[in-house]
Amino acid sequence: MTIKLGIIGAGRVGRLHANTLTTRIPGAKTLVVADIFKDAAKSAAEDYGIPDFTTDPSELIGSGDVDAIVICSSTDTHCRFIIEAARAGKQIFCEKPIAFDLAEIDEALAAVDEAGVQLQIGFNRRFDANHARVKQAIERGEIGEAHTMTIISRDPAPPPIDYIKVSGGLMMDMMIHDFDLSRFLLGEVEEIYALGDVKVDPAIGEAGDIDTAKVMLRFESGAFGSIENSRQAVYGYDQRVEVFGSKGAATTGNWHPNAVTISDAMSVRRDLPLHFFVERYFESYVSEMIAFVDAIANGKTVPVVGNDGRVPVVMAMAGMRSLRENRPVRLDEAEV
Ligand SMILES: NC(=O)c1ccc[n+]([C@@H]2O[C@H](COP(=O)([O-])OP(=O)(O)OC[C@H]3O[C@@H](n4cnc5c(N)ncnc54)[C@H](O)[C@@H]3O)[C@@H](O)[C@H]2O)c1
Repeated sequence: MTIKLGIIGAGRVGRLHANTLTTRIPGAKTLVVADIFKDAAKSAAEDYGIPDFTTDPSELIGSGDVDAIVICSSTDTHCRFIIEAARAGKQIFCEKPIAFDLAEIDEALAAVDEAGVQLQIGFNRRFDANHARVKQAIERGEIGEAHTMTIISRDPAPPPIDYIKVSGGLMMDMMIHDFDLSRFLLGEVEEIYALGDVKVDPAIGEAGDIDTAKVMLRFESGAFGSIENSRQAVYGYDQRVEVFGSKGAATTGNWHPNAVTISDAMSVRRDLPLHFFVERYFESYVSEMIAFVDAIANGKTVPVVGNDGRVPVVMAMAGMRSLRENRPVRLDEAEV
């Protein structure tokens, strides 16, 4: 069975999904791509061999030929398109975060439930081979009882200030992936304590955001962990995870373009890590789409459901409140 898809949003991530869907997912056929900017829609259609494009997402959502909608437009549009697609009976994949506001998210998730369709959230890092193996080590008991978790996640360079202004802030935009990864690995978090500041670019501070943060997490299991984010690591995309337990540790490092070390009389060195998320996580974007299409085609539950999109937003809210109030904040405080 072939699943016929339409993509909304032909920016960075929309193009990435257009690429994977048209080249790597045999059970999927992308029929149409929509973007409010005609040139963006047109060039994505041309570049990835998608037969049709439009500037009107409603056209694509209303099309009887389309089984599933892939929402890759800016975050402030997600809930609107989820609700419209659910009411049209379409299966839905939506990029993270669902929205910045819980009432809006709840309305979208209710529309999905009411329509009886499926919604998968784009937390691609769960599908990364390294992260999946860490999770497997925990589940198999290879490291015993998990005691602590450390996530280091640093970007090679900050995004443009215009992006920062509409991003929802570092915790909602960037750390949200690490919040998701935390609960994917060790289950629910009950309390968060955040430190954050502007260390990289004062313009980020002027835009009302931070660029550097360290967040402590207390898990319901009794384990605790930390996440460190920076918008700029001068040596490139730095993505490391460790879970330490009673019988050992599961540790993942960065991915490099090659496995060569160069040794001379002064040092032993290697090339910089893969530059950014498209390079580092490409295969995880393929795997999440394979899982989505497989679930839709075979009547399985999608692997990252609506509530998996909601909880990291609550975590980001708790983190931001902790930063403002300079104290640990429980997740149930952030809910109200
Ligand atoms: N999973 C990931 O790793 C990952 C990475 C980056 C971004 N994202 C998320 O993906 C989404 C898009 O991010 P991006 O970096 O691709 O942004 P982007 O600005 O590059 O692209 C967004 C596109 O959506 C289009 N758009 C905006 N409003 C629209 C509307 N009403 N109808 C149709 N098209 C519309 C814009 O014209 C633009 O082309 C965001 O929610 C972001 O958080 C996810």
